[in-house]
Amino acid sequence: GQAKADLTVTGGDSKLTISRNIYGQFSEHLGRCIYGGFWVDPKLPVAKQNRIRLDIVEALKKIHIPNLRWPGGCFADEYHWRDGIGPSAQRPKMVNTNWGGVTEDNSFGTHEFLELCSLLKCEPYITGNVGSGTVDEMSKWVEYLNFDGESPTTALRKQNGHPAPFKVSFWGVGNESWGCGGNMTAEYYSDQFKRYASFAKNYPGTPLKKIATGPSDGDYHWMETCMKNIGTRMWGISLHNYTIPTGSWSKKGSATSFTNAEYFNTMKNCLRMDEYVTKHSAIMDKYDPEKKVALVVDEWGIWTDVEPGTNPGFLYQQNSLRDALVAATTLNIFNNHCDRVKMANLAQTVNVLQALILTDNEKMLLTPTYHVFDLYKVHQDATYLPIELKSPDLENGSDKIPAINVSASIDSNKVIHISLVNLDPEKKISIRTGLKGLNWSGVTGQILTSEKLTDVNTFQKPNKLKIETFTGASKQGDQLVADLPAHSVVVLTLK
Ligand code: AHR
Repeated sequence: GQAKADLTVTGGDSKLTISRNIYGQFSEHLGRCIYGGFWVDPKLPVAKQNRIRLDIVEALKKIHIPNLRWPGGCFADEYHWRDGIGPSAQRPKMVNTNWGGVTEDNSFGTHEFLELCSLLKCEPYITGNVGSGTVDEMSKWVEYLNFDGESPTTALRKQNGHPAPFKVSFWGVGNESWGCGGNMTAEYYSDQFKRYASFAKNYPGTPLKKIATGPSDGDYHWMETCMKNIGTRMWGISLHNYTIPTGSWSKKGSATSFTNAEYFNTMKNCLRMDEYVTKHSAIMDKYDPEKKVALVVDEWGIWTDVEPGTNPGFLYQQNSLRDALVAATTLNIFNNHCDRVKMANLAQTVNVLQALILTDNEKMLLTPTYHVFDLYKVHQDATYLPIELKSPDLENGSDKIPAINVSASIDSNKVIHISLVNLDPEKKISIRTGLKGLNWSGVTGQILTSEKLTDVNTFQKPNKLKIETFTGASKQGDQLVADLPAHSVVVLTLK
């Protein structure tokens, strides 16, 4: 018979906000994310400010991206900010050792990044160099960005055309310090954090929100050590977790060609984010019961093999309906953990990993993942609504995962938003929802789906997957009833 799910959404006493910063993005000097993505050849026939592509800016403004993390990633721990300021022609070049060994000309530096953020109307999130940079270098970068008074460093900023401070507050103290950021132990890193953080000063008007390099996946020792040794000295601590379809870094699986079994494994791996966030949060609760320290999932997304024929160091991958289901499911997890997860950054905005946007010279397309961020933007800064869900299982042999996942919020106009994901590759699922302590009289909806899980947007057919009106929900008595098509993301609006 027909598969059914039951949901309860409760209003009334929730005081928790789904921070808009959960919808943050990450852009590294990697492959064609910055160079050939945001920052293009002056001769490319597209609208630009400076060398920043404005069609990309417009698309990202539409989904209200709240913050942008830069310059890495692994790149951050070999980046020296002084090489990226001043007249472009005089900037020294460097080798991007992590990503394809290409020459970096430093034409995109601090001023260009902050110009991009101001065009996007988003907050910058800068990651400083702990692995190969000095304490003084990081300290002076913060002074250059945020100090309003007179100093040799701010004189340089003025000389470079920016008399006013930039006011950057999200500040990463290194990246993956257990790996590409210096192969440190948790004990050593937490001491280093204190050194670097002591000299990254709070200038008037711009207190820094310092974010420590946190664990990857289930490295609970790293979390425990940082919470014990750093505690509330940090504003936040990061977590990195990627969804690898096969679960193996050596052969991750294709982005566009996969079986239902491979799809099942991808979603199972994706759902592990909930376990990681839950367990890391429990450790954080021990040291910080008031939940002052944010869990910042500043790298997440699906990581597949690169598109055949492309540079393996550039991490260029296509983006299918499966990617959209990964994004929607992960964002539901973050929304439901918004008491601790105050910020997250999808890896990476343009042309790299689970991108929102792909470009081919002057052409550009919006990926299925972009459309999920568009659908979910209604949750940004809305009040979280607790849910209880009874979902049918999606089975694969003896293995199973919940077929449905959900999150819900109520915005400042008292409009209720419910985002529902049906992971079942074949079956539609009927969901019946009771709403407690919430007033509404009608429902409208939007949907993202496609015939096949492997469907993608291409430069020839850029709108194959797009948001459409959903008419499968209705009010029946005081219940909300919706038929969720197989492999779909549905966002309902109740007023
Ligand atoms: O996002 C790609 C890379 O993944 C980042 O540079 C690094 O932090 C992580 O290992």
